[in-house]
Amino acid sequence: MPMNQSEKEFFMRAALDEAKKGWGETHPQPMIGAVLVEGGKVVASAYIDRPGSRCPEARLLESLGRKPSAQASLFLTMEPGPSSNRLESGVRSIIDSGVKRVLIGASDPVVEQENKGSDALKEAGLEVERRILIEDCEDLNLVFNHWINHKTPILAAKSATTLDGKIACRTGESKWITGEQARQDVMRWRRLFPAIGVGAGTLIEDDPRLTSRIDGEEEWCGVRFVIDGLLRTAMERFLPSIYTDDFRDNTIVVTTDAAGTGYIRRLETEGVNVWVLPASNMKVPFPEFRKKCYDVGINGIYFEGGSKLTSELLHMRELDYHFNYRAPILLGDDKAKPVYRGMRIEKLSHALRLERVCTETFGDDQLMRGYLSYPSRSDVDETVFSND
Ligand SMILES: NC(=O)c1ccc[n+]([C@@H]2O[C@H](COP(=O)([O-])OP(=O)(O)OC[C@H]3O[C@@H](n4cnc5c(N)ncnc54)[C@H](OP(=O)(O)O)[C@@H]3O)[C@@H](O)[C@H]2O)c1
Repeated sequence: MPMNQSEKEFFMRAALDEAKKGWGETHPQPMIGAVLVEGGKVVASAYIDRPGSRCPEARLLESLGRKPSAQASLFLTMEPGPSSNRLESGVRSIIDSGVKRVLIGASDPVVEQENKGSDALKEAGLEVERRILIEDCEDLNLVFNHWINHKTPILAAKSATTLDGKIACRTGESKWITGEQARQDVMRWRRLFPAIGVGAGTLIEDDPRLTSRIDGEEEWCGVRFVIDGLLRTAMERFLPSIYTDDFRDNTIVVTTDAAGTGYIRRLETEGVNVWVLPASNMKVPFPEFRKKCYDVGINGIYFEGGSKLTSELLHMRELDYHFNYRAPILLGDDKAKPVYRGMRIEKLSHALRLERVCTETFGDDQLMRGYLSYPSRSDVDETVFSND
């Protein structure tokens, strides 16, 4: 009996769940899941569990230990293509297994490579159906897709705001704007992105741990970037915790050649890494920062503010993605800190926009996330930006 659309989506969801077992573990490779369905049941499954892992279709078919039945359907969240290094090995293992039907979620993320794997399967006589839950399958790899397409890390910012877009009271108090469920979701994204970033102000004011603490899992720490042009954070009498805790060798302070060498030495003595980038104005140059991240293989940074850092990223058009958690509270105070500031946009048609938007609810809070799309440079007066 042929499957109907909701059955196809049901099994693609199972393949997505399988792929998510590799959440945060596969960089710089994508997350990919595969399930084999026979007689309305999943009989084998596999996913990419680490960089360098063999293609999931090959592992799945090997774990099955026999030929798939004549009616078997193979579900793949991403087609076997060149970007995931599976064009030859993935296609070959599927053809050799004798499976006759393959259902695919996302195509290869690079436009020029799109459908190469599916076409190869079709040419070999297999029945191929594409685009099952395509948005979900593409969204799963937002970090990988950006990296492979643009050859630069994806820079994302997260903010937790009041209804009127404030990230802290006028006193600086910001704990907690959103509730526990939204904060647990942030922990999931911290676990996905290979690096987190904050500005010097947030580090001094909040002294965050910047680790991922998911209920029932061990505390996990990726790379922790601090953007600090003058090493103000190293001038503190008591250094922030991320310079002294057990994960301090995961901390990288990104500064400029205007920073004092004594402060650089103080951090390095603690075991903290320091990147000194050339800058004419004591500001970390984000294009250089991206380049350095690319060189060391860091493909995504999840910035958690504060307002000066994210506004500057936005103004420099260096922010690619935005996560906004909105809580049902309101300050109505001009002196409370806004998430973004310093722009001057006179027409709604010139506003920055989120595209490929995803929304989710966590208790009373709402998450809206998406890719930032910028107005054309001629439409906005970029000279008025100031984040003093
Ligand atoms: N609700 C939320 O989601 C959220 C998230 C994070 C933070 N917060 C709140 O935000 C507040 C802190 O925000 P903030 O705007 O004061 O601080 P911030 O953005 O964290 O840090 C600003 C400072 O970082 C340094 N910096 C930023 N961009 C730089 C660049 N390109 N190059 C070099 N240095 C750079 C500058 O230090 P110098 O001035 O020394 O040059 C700047 O003053 C706190 O109250 C915190 O609780 C809220």
